[in-house]
Amino acid sequence: MSGVFASRTVVAQAWYVLCRSSELRRGSVRSWDALGRRVAAWRDDGGAVHVLDARCPHLGADLGHGAVTSSGVRCAFHHWTIGADGVVQSAPECVVAPRRRVRRYPAVERFGLVFFFNGATPTLDPPEAPPGGPWRAVALPTQRLACHPHLVLGNGLDVAHLGALHDFELTMEPELSEPSPQTVAVRVAGRPRSQLAAWLTGSRQAPVVAEFRATGGSVAWAHFEAPRPFHVLFTGRGDRDLGACVTQTVVFVRSLHPGTTVPATALLWSLLRSDRRILESLDFAPAFTKGDEGLRRWASVIDKLETA
Ligand code: FES
Ligand SMILES: [Fe+2]
Repeated sequence: MSGVFASRTVVAQAWYVLCRSSELRRGSVRSWDALGRRVAAWRDDGGAVHVLDARCPHLGADLGHGAVTSSGVRCAFHHWTIGADGVVQSAPECVVAPRRRVRRYPAVERFGLVFFFNGATPTLDPPEAPPGGPWRAVALPTQRLACHPHLVLGNGLDVAHLGALHDFELTMEPELSEPSPQTVAVRVAGRPRSQLAAWLTGSRQAPVVAEFRATGGSVAWAHFEAPRPFHVLFTGRGDRDLGACVTQTVVFVRSLHPGTTVPATALLWSLLRSDRRILESLDFAPAFTKGDEGLRRWASVIDKLETA
């Protein structure tokens, strides 16, 4: 396997989650290891979030240790100030600001998460809330998996493992599609083989019907249509290690009533409980066969993405 898919050296251009919105108070700046580099974000007094490479263009200090001013972020080391466009605005020892800049990333906030695009101009849209709302969005705790994000986010497209690993019996032939040049989707129907799991998930009478949809190497949706509608957004990005996955998961439910949340939680648990153990010990070396078509297409889509 070569190219962009599951690469530990190149990163596809996409919308990645940097942090939770709640981690950035007004007037605060922080930085994270993201996509093999250090990335800083700050929230200005108006509430807008700005994302830049965190290495100060003077001597390379981490801007995450700086302070937010009315003109940008001020580096803690020698007080150079860098604006939201990444350009140096001022330096205390210089009458004219040095002509230096750092890389600036387009940024948006959705569902309580800060997304940034690792290219000058976004080539795809950030994720939208699922149709048929209004939804209550519940963010699960941030997790880190020792597995490449492409493999974590492509897990739902790997229909062959649903029966083998998750003991989930498919009741129809999976339907594969590519709704956009950056997206691969698969629609499945079935139910847990375990009576207890079928009861908990509300799928004893009517099977679970769901679509898994992965986009751009950084986000994936699980759209559950039946027996009760709910949606799950999975996001993933590397940190210092491009082969690791920092993941944020948001569950969209109609209400927080136990009648909705218990089956949704049971279904998620039933599907995800075994994945981490396998994914974290995976030494990815594919020999794709017919049953791997979803994953194979996902790899092919990612291999065509621009890199950064
Ligand atoms: S390293 Fe940032 S101002 Fe000197
Ligand atoms: Fe799985």
